[in-house]
Amino acid sequence: MLKIGSLSLDSPLILAPLSGISDLPFRLINRLFGCELAFTEMISASSLVHQSRTTGRMLVTVPLDRPLGIQLLGNDPDIVQRAFDIIASREFDVVDLNAACPVPKVTRKGEGAALLHHPQKLRDILKALVTRARVPVTVKIRSGWDETSVNARDVALHAQDAGISAVFIHGRTKEQGYSGSVDYRIIGEVKKALSIPLIASGDILSPLLIRRMFEETGCDGVTIARGALGNPWIFRQADAFLKHGRIPEPPAVSEIVFIMKKHLDMVYSYYGERAGTVLFRKFFVWYGRGISHVKHLRDLVFRAQTRDEMMRIIDALSASPESV
Ligand SMILES: Cc1cc2nc3c(=O)[nH]c(=O)nc-3n(C[C@H](O)[C@H](O)[C@H](O)COP(=O)(O)O)c2cc1C
Repeated sequence: MLKIGSLSLDSPLILAPLSGISDLPFRLINRLFGCELAFTEMISASSLVHQSRTTGRMLVTVPLDRPLGIQLLGNDPDIVQRAFDIIASREFDVVDLNAACPVPKVTRKGEGAALLHHPQKLRDILKALVTRARVPVTVKIRSGWDETSVNARDVALHAQDAGISAVFIHGRTKEQGYSGSVDYRIIGEVKKALSIPLIASGDILSPLLIRRMFEETGCDGVTIARGALGNPWIFRQADAFLKHGRIPEPPAVSEIVFIMKKHLDMVYSYYGERAGTVLFRKFFVWYGRGISHVKHLRDLVFRAQTRDEMMRIIDALSASPESV
């Protein structure tokens, strides 16, 4: 069991915030396979305050989509507090502050991973959230800005001082982005320093890597990010592996096809046929990894315009290679 403040979770496997990906359909699909706590993608506090329509859409949820964490991005305690007041009446269970995003457009504004340079400011923003929020407040950090400034321990201690309920850490520096090796040692050090739970991120790509993260760092939970792209089964497989030491068989192509169609229909009801068709292309590629005759179908998916075309192409995944 994992406790994040007042929130008790049976599963230590959490669906990570993923910008442009962690929408309602994606979260619901992962929940079918045992994902318990899931996050929205990062939502800009200043866009919320300025009432951007796309931002409002990121907050759409349904009763089945719980427990839900909302992730905010911002660097001004006042704006973050005002953004929180805007979302306060919504249904969610955790609010997280992003101090990890490495994208230059974000860090240039002093947001995301730029906050790693300013642990005291980060503490002030988190304090502002803690005083407002009736749900647990958490923060997501990185190991540091670059290899010469690995300061996650100091940043995490400042964050804990603000009265938050857990720290999420991506064990790479901002400079590493999403590549290069994950620093298990720094995650373990932060875990030892904190009295609140530490949830680890970075190369959480398979049941074996998940077990490795728990064993090498002593972390209390992990977030699954790229490992869940086209692979909601990772929740079921990792859960079985952690509990019983055995990884269940990977899904048959027929099951993959069934889930893709379910996911696609959810995408259509959320975005409509036109936008949904375009959006699902990347999911088709992710779901199709490892299926032998997918290449030709990928080309068709990138030209498809309608639901019927998309469904036919997905069905063709389970046909024999010769008949495609
Ligand atoms: C496309 C993409 C979008 C991401 N968006 C977010 C985000 O909105 N908020 C966040 O905290 N992390 C975000 N991340 C980081 C992931 O949550 C995770 O920390 C990172 O991918 C490392 O985990 P992995 O190596 O297991 O994928 C994003 C990562 C990717 C690849």
